Amino acid sequence: MGKPYVYITRNVPKETITSLEEVAEVAMWPHEEEPVPRNILLQEAEKADGLFTMLSDKVDKELMDGAPHLKVIANLAVGFDNIDVQTATDKKIVVCNTPDVLTDTTADLTFALLMATARRIVEASDYVKDGKWKNWGPLLLAGTDIHHKTIGIVGMGRIGAAVAKRATGFDMEILYHNRSRNEKAEKELGATYVSFDELIKRSDFVVCLAPLTKETENLFTWATFTLMKKSAIFINASRGAVVDEVALERALEEKEIGGAGLDVFRVEPISATHPLLRFKNVVALPHIGSSSMETRYAMCELVSRNIANVLLGSKPETSVNPEVLG
Ligand code: DGY
Repeated sequence: MGKPYVYITRNVPKETITSLEEVAEVAMWPHEEEPVPRNILLQEAEKADGLFTMLSDKVDKELMDGAPHLKVIANLAVGFDNIDVQTATDKKIVVCNTPDVLTDTTADLTFALLMATARRIVEASDYVKDGKWKNWGPLLLAGTDIHHKTIGIVGMGRIGAAVAKRATGFDMEILYHNRSRNEKAEKELGATYVSFDELIKRSDFVVCLAPLTKETENLFTWATFTLMKKSAIFINASRGAVVDEVALERALEEKEIGGAGLDVFRVEPISATHPLLRFKNVVALPHIGSSSMETRYAMCELVSRNIANVLLGSKPETSVNPEVLG
């Protein structure tokens, strides 16, 4: 019997997949930014024992129904809302993600986005680059303070706690809302658990890090934005679909909130004509939460090891449906 077959849906650094190549025959979509077309993905899945996927690949029932040999799907992300985990579990396919290795990097980016939005960093940089800086002015590009303000974190998992840790360095009051209490964050970081509505009303910075699930889809509605302080800055570094983007646009238009920093959008990538981009007080990023060289390499290596482990019959390091392996 030949080696198992693994398909990687994007071009990833060769040196990160050595553990995988030891146990499998590996093929890779050759482009780094262009996604694999659906028909090719389906053809590859039909032959594959393992799939190394991106958060932009839809791994649904249709794909799995046509993939009789598939044993493992490993996603290059901590989020796995692009994968139908229930169907995978029913079919005894292991699903893996990349928690932990990206926690600090994603928290850094989230906090950077908060700071960039509050202090108008992107706007100010463009101002200089566009040759508009002619004089110093008392209120030139004046932003809003971060230190000693209140941050409200929706989704106090690993990344949420790492953002809270950064907030302690800015002497911020930390509120959080989560499915369950995070006693460690309460004890070690002084975070206070509050209801969703209380967090929304009291926070100067509302930071969404909740995973996208049926419960969190469209969590941030027009009603949510009207409950926020008029000066509040909304940061989203989880998934775009947790937000009603039309409501967010209206909230910015009607000055119901002070600004938004967005690393994620409902449909990605967005074009330059996306309605949220017309606001000066919006900082928009192309979903780069975990994108540092060190972390993306570590994520690729973890995905490779996870697939190799499953194909060798052992447990992966990080799986979201461990019940499949008993
Ligand atoms: C993830 O891993 O889910 C992040 O969104 C990547 O930036």
